[in-house]
Order: sequence, then C-alpha cells, then structure tokens
Amino acid sequence: MTTHQVGYLIGSLAKNSINRKLSKALVQLAPAHLQMQEISFAQLPLYSYDYDADFPPVARKFKEAIAAVDAVLFITPEYNRSIPGGLKNAIDWASRPYGKNSFARKPSAVIGTSPGAIGTAVAQQSLRSVLSFCNSPQMNAPEAYIQFTPGLITDDGEVTVESTEEFLRNYMSEFATFITRVLQVLPREV
Ligand code: FNR
Repeated sequence: MTTHQVGYLIGSLAKNSINRKLSKALVQLAPAHLQMQEISFAQLPLYSYDYDADFPPVARKFKEAIAAVDAVLFITPEYNRSIPGGLKNAIDWASRPYGKNSFARKPSAVIGTSPGAIGTAVAQQSLRSVLSFCNSPQMNAPEAYIQFTPGLITDDGEVTVESTEEFLRNYMSEFATFITRVLQVLPREV
C-alpha cells in the first residue's frame, strides 16, 4: 500500500490542550501507511500581505511543510464559535502569496473536540468554508464532533472509551481512503 504523508495542524496552542490529546490518539489509531507529522504554526507572526514579496524564514518553512505533505488534517478547538485566531493566521500564511496557495488540490479533513455537547461543530463548519475557498478537497464524511468528557483521552493519547476509539480508528481509515482517491484524480504536482 502506498505510504501517504499527512501533516496535522493542532488549532490550540495551550499546553494542556484536549485537541493535542486527540491528535495523539489519532496518530496512534491511523493506518500504518499514513505517516503523521505535526506542522506547528506557533512561531508565525501575524500575516500581512506586506510580507508577500519576501516571506520570513519561519513562514517559508511553514509553507514548505504544507507543500511537502500529501494531505492535511486539522484538529481544532472551537473558540467563540469559530476556529482559534492562530490557526486562521496560519492558513492565511499558507494560502499566499496569490497564486501560490499551498492548499490547492491538497486533500484535507477536519476534526475537533470540546467539552461542549456540539463538540466543535460550529468551528468546523467555519473551517470548511475557509478550506473551500482555498480549493482543498475535503473529506465530507464521516464528520467527527468529539465531546471531551473528563479522562476520555489520556495525556499519552490512549482513548479510554472503546466506542470512541473505534470511531476514531474508522475516521482515520476513511481519511486514508479519501486521500488515495483524491490523489488518483489529482496527482501531486512535482
Ligand atoms: C472556548 N471554549 C469553547 N467551547 C465551545 O464548545 N465553543 C466555543 O465557542 C468556545 N469558545 C471558547 C473561546 C475561548 C477563547 C476559549 C479559551 C475556550 C471552551 C473550549 O472548548 C475549551 O477551552 C477546550 O479545552 C479548548 O480546546 P483546547 O484548547 O484545550 O484544545
């Protein structure tokens, strides 16, 4: 089976982020042919198109990391019914300069967790809208709105509820299938 490189962005910068815990679980539950690597955006300055003529090294490195992977997975909290500002800033960086949008034709998927009952659903819809504009083919289903109950996922990424573990394993398996399908019709440009 062909190996696919998946870069994942964790929307939260918090040390005890529940979405970071979710990311650890997803890495562990992903099929073996998905190679998962975090792409951090923590050091990016706030984007302005004044940088377009000459991106700073940290932004160039970030953009190159997105360009280097076959697919991108967004694991995000919901802040004020949208995605955190840091994540939006990172997407803006990767989408520019004009004509060099790193997300174009790049398969993506969205998942997130929150203690609230709707488990980041509103933030995910907001992110989907951004990714549509960025011309990223998105996995539509399964959707994954994970309500984080205390202890659901340990600091090491172990999922303590069997049905949730199975759901997340299936989510990653579906994402792998989706990536394969998209790359068949939209092979990566070299
Ligand atoms: C929140 N939280 C939250 N939760 C939610 O379900 N919907 C929301 O709109 C918000 N809004 C919100 C705004 C801000 C600024 C913060 C800090 C938090 C609660 C949030 O789900 C909770 O803090 C999670 O722990 C955030 O995920 P991370 O950062 O721990 O991964």
